[in-house]
Amino acid sequence: MCGIVGYVGRQDAVPVLLEGLARLEYRGYDSAGIAVVRNGTLRVHKRAGKVRDLAASMPKRLSGQVGIAHTRWATHGQPSDANAHPHVDMANRIAVVHNGMIEDSALLRERLRAEGVQFSSETDTELLAHLIAREDADDLEEAVRRALRRVHGAYGIAVLDATAPDRIVLARNGSPVLIGIGDHQMLCASDMAALVRHAQQVVHLEDGELATVTAESFSTATLDARPTVKTATTLESAASDYERGGFEHFMLKEISEQPQAIDATLRGRLDARLATARLGGLNLTARELRAFRRVHVIACGSALYAGMVGAGMLESLARIPAAAESAAEFRYRNAVIEPETLYVAVSQSGETADTLAAVEEIARKGGRVLGVVNVPGSSIARAVDGGIYLHAGPELSVASTKAFTSMTVAFALLALHLGRLRDLGPADGQRLLSALAKLPDKAAEALAAHDELKQLAAWIASAQSSFFIGRVRGYPVALEGAQKLKEVSYVHAEAYPAAELKHGPLALISPELPTVAIVPDDELLEKNLASLEQIHSRGGEVLAVAHRQLGTLADRLILVPKSEPELDPILLGLPLQLLAYYAAAALGRDIDQPRNLAKSVTVE
Ligand code: G6P
Repeated sequence: MCGIVGYVGRQDAVPVLLEGLARLEYRGYDSAGIAVVRNGTLRVHKRAGKVRDLAASMPKRLSGQVGIAHTRWATHGQPSDANAHPHVDMANRIAVVHNGMIEDSALLRERLRAEGVQFSSETDTELLAHLIAREDADDLEEAVRRALRRVHGAYGIAVLDATAPDRIVLARNGSPVLIGIGDHQMLCASDMAALVRHAQQVVHLEDGELATVTAESFSTATLDARPTVKTATTLESAASDYERGGFEHFMLKEISEQPQAIDATLRGRLDARLATARLGGLNLTARELRAFRRVHVIACGSALYAGMVGAGMLESLARIPAAAESAAEFRYRNAVIEPETLYVAVSQSGETADTLAAVEEIARKGGRVLGVVNVPGSSIARAVDGGIYLHAGPELSVASTKAFTSMTVAFALLALHLGRLRDLGPADGQRLLSALAKLPDKAAEALAAHDELKQLAAWIASAQSSFFIGRVRGYPVALEGAQKLKEVSYVHAEAYPAAELKHGPLALISPELPTVAIVPDDELLEKNLASLEQIHSRGGEVLAVAHRQLGTLADRLILVPKSEPELDPILLGLPLQLLAYYAAAALGRDIDQPRNLAKSVTVE
């Protein structure tokens, strides 16, 4: 949601931090700031707006070999210069950047105010700066530890002290913090993206851990001061994974990367000999997998729609009842956790607060949870019993595209695997395996018609509102298509199961309200065509996403290559991503950073 980066080493920290912020900006982008220590003085520069505004306004003399920085997505207080991080204490000695939320901040602020502390922002983070500054401890880590023992909430923080300019102190509780180990220099960040250029190895902090990082070394310990031992892993992503390359936007780059992303999700997992999918990370025996009577998928946003696609695949291929639900709904309805239910948490980032909380609730009550996650080592990936990594590579556009598609592919693998342990015969297994192997090429084909989609997008962009409809397998495709359009173009779109139109929404059909219809060539074709008739007879216009020509029933048509019926949803949604992208482009939207949204929502 927000991004943290810190640097200590021999270089000037300012350009390293600015570059780190730019790489993190997809996490939040309403304000940004930087703090460095030089000659024993803490200097802070921060402002509302984007990282490029911060960089353009940076005072020339601001430099130092240690610093912390932050890009924000407002939760406590408006985006403003004053509320931007870093926050400092009254003596301008301690600077703090923070992701997460301090729950008892209002109460603690009142207490400090009564003791004479003056606050210069509305944030919960500033409270931490004052609390740390007021601790009379031997070193910065101990002061941070004592301050943190006084608060409740979720945090990932980095702290700078003007009187200890050789170090940064970090702490994690519910919001990721990583240490990047470089050559006589160290970085810290909330996300790998900010580490890729200057670090070779990475260390993940656990919840309840603190770290002191200097240019040459780091140490870690728990909140009750017990030292911990950490293993560094090699940083596998390359800087280019976090760059736009020749593309105008990350969204377009990531849409175009989908054939490779699908390939990466499938790699090493197709077992032709046994006509099944090989999934090494499930950590469940065949006997355990057979014993489940239900699958319940939990996720948010596009991951939820991928989960709905997945539930359909599980039901049809593994003949196991499966449903998907918003993780936020799930966590608050005191759901009955059943030992015979396999829970599956889906998340690109692995950090979405509601999904993580739902996973923790299931684990607390003894349920088994698998993760379908993209970011290795993320909080959800570490909280689950096992799972399937997507291997789709970093996704930086707020609107999820390649991760969504890889999620649906991962579900196809899980459904095949579970199916082959149950009733799915070897011939069907082979049929799906060979269709899966062909998906990358078919995805490339589905994404080829840019010029045509640009024209269709201009038409959609000129509408006030639109409907997306689909039936059974097509319905989650419609949901995700509408979501993409809303997110990036701000054109209102609503998705309905096609048969629901006649129960209300048909009242709105007119030539001004286009309908995008998902019409696969499957056993429901006739039913779908009947829905198109109804729309036409009320004067509505239809853009159909289909496997074949539909005559006069489709005013406009996008043809998508056919796969096996169970896998069709993976391909049917692809052109809708381009439709949303080009609609947003036609309307001049800020495509990679749509208003009011953030890539990963790590607070409620
Ligand atoms: C945010 C993003 C969405 C994403 C959702 C779930 O709302 O803007 O694009 O689908 O979070 O994120 P996750 O990382 O859990 O897949």
